[in-house]
Amino acid sequence: MEVVSQMAPNKPWNADRALEIIEEIKEIEGPLLPILHELQEEFGCVPESVLPMIAHALNLSRAEVHGVATFYHDFRREPAGKHVLKLCGAEACQSMGGDHIAACAEKGLGIKVGSTSLDGQVTLEHVYCLGLCAVAPAAMLDGRVVGRVDERRLQGLLAEARK
Ligand code: FES
Repeated sequence: MEVVSQMAPNKPWNADRALEIIEEIKEIEGPLLPILHELQEEFGCVPESVLPMIAHALNLSRAEVHGVATFYHDFRREPAGKHVLKLCGAEACQSMGGDHIAACAEKGLGIKVGSTSLDGQVTLEHVYCLGLCAVAPAAMLDGRVVGRVDERRLQGLLAEARK
């Protein structure tokens, strides 16, 4: 099972633009998450250095902003590699062999989940439910979701991610 969606390329990090984004969004109700999402959307990451800027603009403590930014797995501290392979680590997928698939992916790429290959080609991440529990274990490569991931299908995804 495959569903295709488009990922927009991210722009290089720019603190002035980040400040603009924060200023644009800060007046709405509950601005913290929308700001983090917009920064991630624009730059592909929410670097540590922007957290004090957000805290200052929203009159929050750095710890509060840091707590929210680190709670959600989707907010990265550094830009991702060229390809992002997300493996579902939630319950249904775990019970269908998701841990084994994650171990195979780590072995195949020579990196741990949560990191990027040295050549910047592939970022391997956990995600917690892709909504494909019925066809677990599930994965997502660059926004395209794939169900019933077995070792053979994983090898195909790894080969694609290395291109
Ligand atoms: S638990 Fe993996 S897709 Fe829902």
